[in-house]
Amino acid sequence: MISNRALNMPASPIRRLVPFADEAKKRGIQVYHLNIGQPDIETPKEWFEYIEKFKTKVVAYTHSQGILPLREKFSEYYKKWDINVSPDEIMVTNGGSEAIMFALGIVCDPGDEILVIEPFYANYAGFAAYLNIKIIPVTTTPENGYRMPEKKEFEKRISSKTKAILFSNPSNPTGVVYTKEELQTIVEIAKKYNLVIISDEVYREFAFDNKKSISAFEFEEIHDRLIIVDSISKRYSACGARIGTFVTKNKKFYNAALKFAQARLSPAEITQYGTIGLLNSSEEYMKNTLTEYQKRRDVAYEEIKKIPSVVAYKPEGAFYLSAKLPVDNAEEFIKWMLTNFNVDGKTTMVAPLSGFYATPNTGLSEIRIAYVLNSEKIKDAIKIMALAIEKFNNQKKLVGESKVD
Ligand SMILES: Cc1ncc(COP(=O)(O)O)c(C=O)c1O
Repeated sequence: MISNRALNMPASPIRRLVPFADEAKKRGIQVYHLNIGQPDIETPKEWFEYIEKFKTKVVAYTHSQGILPLREKFSEYYKKWDINVSPDEIMVTNGGSEAIMFALGIVCDPGDEILVIEPFYANYAGFAAYLNIKIIPVTTTPENGYRMPEKKEFEKRISSKTKAILFSNPSNPTGVVYTKEELQTIVEIAKKYNLVIISDEVYREFAFDNKKSISAFEFEEIHDRLIIVDSISKRYSACGARIGTFVTKNKKFYNAALKFAQARLSPAEITQYGTIGLLNSSEEYMKNTLTEYQKRRDVAYEEIKKIPSVVAYKPEGAFYLSAKLPVDNAEEFIKWMLTNFNVDGKTTMVAPLSGFYATPNTGLSEIRIAYVLNSEKIKDAIKIMALAIEKFNNQKKLVGESKVD
């Protein structure tokens, strides 16, 4: 009675180890959660002010594309990033998640293919499975700093069923911020093979060392084939607001997405008002948030580099660091950290990166760290992980040796 679609839906690599963390906590172990992108930074006060100010007698549906004052506010926000889109080119969605679903749903039929730079935001696989779309991964490697693959790597994967290229920039999970030249690769391929570009820019603000992340919108020649997926979740530490945007200058894309939006009626009214508050929050807030993430990035990178044989590059953006550890199977190692290891009653949880790849048996030794805790905790958590790696590998060696005996 259950569809193959549901049966084939991949479990979230981030959440599937949670029962082991819960068990550890039951045993009184403190778990440092560096596994999930839930920031600890406070949401701007304007959110709460606007929510409090919002008085109504009826909690109503709104327009399917979102309330106009919010779309106007978003339009102003995008102008600051040289993304010139009118309120009619912006649709408010239930998180960036829904914008991704809309984008894939309007571009692909069941059985169609999309090129995705891997490792990728793991839920792309879930959305693709839900829509019966096939992800064709274009692989990057830790040794190469997870940089953009060469043009030929994309080209050799293109078939008559390929409809779009999907990627996040700044990247979850690698923290890479693509250069203009790297984005040019995608632009050229999209034009040559008539593909849609779905650019997930939910970490736009988080580019470090005074660099600016470049929006795909900067390439005017692809405006007719571009969909930007966006979200306030990370930017304003407002994951629970469930507000994102679907942005495009292509009227046909917009109108097609609007039909999906009408079917789900509307985003929540009250959180749309709260989001106007967020978009009115101070530049100071964003500056402080960026400074804090950069500090954490530095701490996380310094600590991880101390572990012998680790392959890691300094992330340039988002709030993630992906690295290759000197362990054969990172998922097994993470489970082991949660079940068998602690230092003074504390242990660390990170995400196994294999679940962020679509290519089977890839990224087995890799992990993703989300630096969503303060610097002290990050430092402690990675130190604990370093000790754990040593013990885990020593134990495996002993088991291996006793087998040989
Ligand atoms: C790259 C990327 N895109 C989209 C999302 C979805 O975010 P939300 O649905 O909370 O807006 C996330 C969340 O982690 C993400 O990392």
